[in-house]
Amino acid sequence: MSEVRLSGIRKVYEGARAARPAVDRLDLTFASGELVVMVGPSGCGKSTTLRIVAGLEDPTEGHVFVDGRDVTLVQPAQRDIAMVFQSYALYPHMSVFENLAFALRIRKLPEAEIKARVEEVAKNLSIDAYLDRRPKALSGGQRQRVAIGRAVVRRPKVFLFDEPLSNLDAKLRGDMRREIARIHRESQTTSLYVTHDQIEAMTLADRIVVLKDGTLQQVGTPLEIYQRPANRFVAGFFGTPAMNFLAAAVEHGGGARAARGLGFQVPMPSSLDDSERNDVVIGIRPEDIGLDRRADRVPLPGAVQVREMLGAEVVLHVASAAGEVTVRADARTPGRPGDAVTMWLDPSAVHWFDARSEHRLAS
Ligand SMILES: Nc1ncnc2c1ncn2[C@@H]1O[C@H](COP(=O)(O)OP(=O)(O)O)[C@@H](O)[C@H]1O
Ligand SMILES: [Mg+2]
Repeated sequence: MSEVRLSGIRKVYEGARAARPAVDRLDLTFASGELVVMVGPSGCGKSTTLRIVAGLEDPTEGHVFVDGRDVTLVQPAQRDIAMVFQSYALYPHMSVFENLAFALRIRKLPEAEIKARVEEVAKNLSIDAYLDRRPKALSGGQRQRVAIGRAVVRRPKVFLFDEPLSNLDAKLRGDMRREIARIHRESQTTSLYVTHDQIEAMTLADRIVVLKDGTLQQVGTPLEIYQRPANRFVAGFFGTPAMNFLAAAVEHGGGARAARGLGFQVPMPSSLDDSERNDVVIGIRPEDIGLDRRADRVPLPGAVQVREMLGAEVVLHVASAAGEVTVRADARTPGRPGDAVTMWLDPSAVHWFDARSEHRLAS
């Protein structure tokens, strides 16, 4: 059980045109036993952060603490942290058994214990039938299991995963995701898992850390991130199909305030601060829009462009004066390309963002 803390981490790669650091002002604490998923688009600094925790990269500024001890200058091998890479990084000339045993041999554990640990982990990951094979005689999914097993068998203080499932097909990815969740549950080892896949993040994480351009956007539970995204970027990153964003102007006159966009008007919650804000962006998820008329909803007329049948649900892409709007509804919902429809937006489900800063407005 180990707590990991990053304090003021900043990384500027030497030789990189110093336009911006790969990561900047990163302050994060991963609680003992927690599974934290770090997510963001390619190039946002996820691997850099993991490599700094592992000791494979030195931060330009800042410190890494494990259980309160500053390990910033400690060699990777002395950190007792195991990392699993997307590329598997197995030793090609060694059998699966020897790949799994490697770190234990370096530690000079007794042969009997090595054998017992390797066999237990291999059984647990359903690779016990392949212990004599070389990695090249395994499928991609089996290789990734060996890579994970090699980390697990060490019983390290901390697991780091860098997009370990990216090379697998969709079905295997789902299976391995559940497997990693199980391993984490059973080992209760502090784990930092990096992915660009928002679904992996939502389904695996105790807490999610969202990065963009090397800076922290939000930290929270999957539900907090989904229900109260801190800014427009986070709002658009989580959810399939993605949240709709509609520009609107605040109407200050009269009693209750409203925001008016092209073709619609939404009442503003009284809890929103009463500043002189003029331009806002309204975020609304596709599932919070329907085509059935409802008295408690806000209309927006449009014309169906595309109908995508998913089986249980249908996704409609609808052109409107406010721009294209995505609607996710029951599969029986009508609407063919060319049909004029009225979309009904649930005003209580609207996320409010400042048009300029793109920050969430308190509500
Ligand atoms: N060894 C390196 N030298 C120079 N720039 C690097 C190096 N590694 C990564 N970068 C840059 O740092 C930024 C963050 O990269 P990385 O941490 O790999 O992102 P991610 O894992 O989120 O895709 C990117 O702009 C990338 O080009
Ligand atoms: Mg990466």
